[in-house]
Amino acid sequence: MTTFLLTVDRESPAPLHRQVYEGIRHAILDGRLRAGQRIPSTRALADQLGVSRLPVLNAYQQLLHEQYLEGRVGSGTYVRTSLPDELLRAPRSPVTAHHGHPALRERDYGGLRPFRVSLPALDRFPHALWARLVSRHARRLRPARMAYGDPAGVLPLRVAIAEYLRAARGVNCDAGQVIITPGSQGALRCCAEVLLARNDRVAIEEPGYPGARAAFRAAGATLMPVRVDDEGITIPRARGRVRAAYLTPSHQYPLGMAMTPARRLALLHWAVQRDAWLIEDDYDSEYRYVSRPLSALQGMSTAGRVIYVGTFSKVLFPALRIGYLVVPPSLVDDFVEARVAQDLFTPTLHQLVLAEFLRDGHFARHLRRMRGVYQSRRDALLNGLGHHCDSLVRVQNADAGLHVAVELHGMRDTDVVARLSEHRLSAIALSSCCISPHPRNGLLLGFGGNPERRLAEATTVLAEVLRQG
Ligand SMILES: Cc1ncc(COP(=O)(O)O)c(C=O)c1O
Repeated sequence: MTTFLLTVDRESPAPLHRQVYEGIRHAILDGRLRAGQRIPSTRALADQLGVSRLPVLNAYQQLLHEQYLEGRVGSGTYVRTSLPDELLRAPRSPVTAHHGHPALRERDYGGLRPFRVSLPALDRFPHALWARLVSRHARRLRPARMAYGDPAGVLPLRVAIAEYLRAARGVNCDAGQVIITPGSQGALRCCAEVLLARNDRVAIEEPGYPGARAAFRAAGATLMPVRVDDEGITIPRARGRVRAAYLTPSHQYPLGMAMTPARRLALLHWAVQRDAWLIEDDYDSEYRYVSRPLSALQGMSTAGRVIYVGTFSKVLFPALRIGYLVVPPSLVDDFVEARVAQDLFTPTLHQLVLAEFLRDGHFARHLRRMRGVYQSRRDALLNGLGHHCDSLVRVQNADAGLHVAVELHGMRDTDVVARLSEHRLSAIALSSCCISPHPRNGLLLGFGGNPERRLAEATTVLAEVLRQG
């Protein structure tokens, strides 16, 4: 007869018979009890476990009923000799086994719903072209490209990005300073890893981007909210060491203004004086509707104080998860080390595809086309807000980007967001971008991901929600 290790926990909320049942079942499924093996009598097992016989009897009956065990008259209880193979296979993934089970649904990140912030026009993405490039690169993938890659990214992509940034964003860099990351979130995690030690202070815009907050907090840094005004982030006034400041100069997240040249110079001066790093997040600088895109702060810095962060999430699609850093030459090795610690390197296939997409001019064409698309979607949203919500909201700034921020009077923004979500509309509460005790009250309304008609409809629902208060 077999002895096998089975224990019960009297403190557990699971009843004893359930614990015995699960214990034996698992021992069978993972092979500790083999088909045909005899298991202890109910009395012996009850003694061994120090429990009464009843729960053990119940467990055995269930296992006999489910055909894990079989009783042989006069000789005891055995693990069934003909266990169906299916029982012995590794458990199927719960997602495929119970597709649609409410507890196992994918988390809701707003999907494609109107007002979803940071969503590009995926309905206008050049799928056929992209698919052709992906398939060509997949077919041609050489063994060397299937092995571990450079933590900084594949060279053709770094070269193409450096060229693009020099020409279109006025960034002062060569390909050696470009490091590919999993989105700008990955880039911000690298910045935190390299630049910030536990309890170091980092100045962040208030209101500001929650993703950046999360990355710096994860590194144990102390967040120092700094007010933004019409010119962008104000100059941090705190005494003592501030290691870095995070900013979105070309399009402040979430309010949308561009940082003025005077403020940029003042901030660069502050960084040099205070020996602080500036982390410039240029997340959707490509889209401006009233003037040409503004050059990056990085290009104004002669003292190598700026770490530049960019992403393809807005200009191509978020699920690509490719972003990049441009770091001063003296920091390249430290950032490469941080990439290794983070996840070694970014998947190679899409980097190669993207390099070709950039090099062959598809990217520039796509951007040009998308500017027109977003301008028209933005106009539809602004018209809808003007018609239906005029007295209810105040639009902050709509010159750039893929969303507008509006201020609310009266109703709390988190309540409005909850009500909108009942109507399958997805907005962000401005207060969720604040960490000070008196958060601003407003909404971020994305317009990038939906056609004009849907945005116009959505503004009528917003008006209804706000009127019902
Ligand atoms: C300010 C800011 N930075 C970066 C991102 C993009 O993040 P990622 O590149 O990780 O998709 C967003 C997206 O919402 C953003 O709002």
